[in-house]
Amino acid sequence: MITLGIETSCDETAVAVVEDTFHARVNLIARQEHLHERFGGVVPEVAARAHVESLNPLLERALQEAGVGFRDLDGVAVTVGPGLVGALLVGMAAAKSVSLAARIPLVGVNHLEGHIWANFLEHGEPDPPYVALVVSGGHTMIAHMPEVHRHEILGQTLDDAAGEAFDKVARLLGLGFPGGPALDALSSEGDPHAIRFPRAMADSGDLDFSMSGLKTAVLRYLRAEQAAGRDVALADVAASFQEAIVDVQVSKTIAAATERGVGTVLLGGGVVANSRLRDRMRQDGEAAGLAVVYPSLDLCTDNAAMIATVGAARLARGERSSLDIAADPNLRLAT
Ligand code: KG4
Ligand code: ZN
Repeated sequence: MITLGIETSCDETAVAVVEDTFHARVNLIARQEHLHERFGGVVPEVAARAHVESLNPLLERALQEAGVGFRDLDGVAVTVGPGLVGALLVGMAAAKSVSLAARIPLVGVNHLEGHIWANFLEHGEPDPPYVALVVSGGHTMIAHMPEVHRHEILGQTLDDAAGEAFDKVARLLGLGFPGGPALDALSSEGDPHAIRFPRAMADSGDLDFSMSGLKTAVLRYLRAEQAAGRDVALADVAASFQEAIVDVQVSKTIAAATERGVGTVLLGGGVVANSRLRDRMRQDGEAAGLAVVYPSLDLCTDNAAMIATVGAARLARGERSSLDIAADPNLRLAT
């Protein structure tokens, strides 16, 4: 079974061809970071226009590299949300056209379920129950997955998403956009215990997160140091900020798994590319008797293979979306 996947929810145009649900034959991405860099964040109109320009050539290349034509496809999966509505619509229009022209079923996919399923592209079929931590530029949540395609949200951020916090603090440190990868790299030269930034919500007794206080604490620290005429050790600030954010994510994820009696934790989303989060989650998770699973770096950030794998599994269960399915910028994970 060959499934085409299309993802245009934010600032990456992505097309993939997946075979038999879990094997990615081709997984292509056209990045547009350079278009948004000077604005310091993703500009929705710019993103939508870039998707329009990139998608058709990328689609053609993906089919060619996969060695298939439209007639060989058994289904098409597309991200319907959450994300930027104008950006989502570009991918959805393309997916609907392919579905209609090639007479193959269409299935709409939740982007966040895609981030969770990126794990199964590398580790094979799901074997729930799981607790999943999804941390990206737009989301921060812990979900309990008692069975395939079912999710119970246990906690989420009350303000900024984790990736957003990384990007904002990176900007304060003059690291450009998107700042997460640059902040991660700079942190490796710093001391994570140099500055004790607040662990927001660490003792709140629930599984929710808050990031804005931490961001403000970093800003206050930088201003105070500058006012005192001291040179700021940027690598120490980066490493200490990263440690604070990672600490809370690791402890809450382990608490969620323990509370639910679940033995395996799945990580997904762009922030899972963070080296410290991967290391700490694995070490602390194993110390707590948990198996910790995360995708390789390319599959943590946005891609279409993760969308195609969810879509293929849903198609195999007989699910279909109608051609008038709408984009949903605030789509929630199915319960
Ligand atoms: O999942 P993703 O590609 O897009 C969304 O769905 O939002 O996540 C992008 C986010 C950005 O905020 C980026 O700065 C962050 O993931 N990110 C990182 C790292 N690599 C990407 N954050 C921290 N450390 C990294 N190594
Ligand atoms: Zn994402």
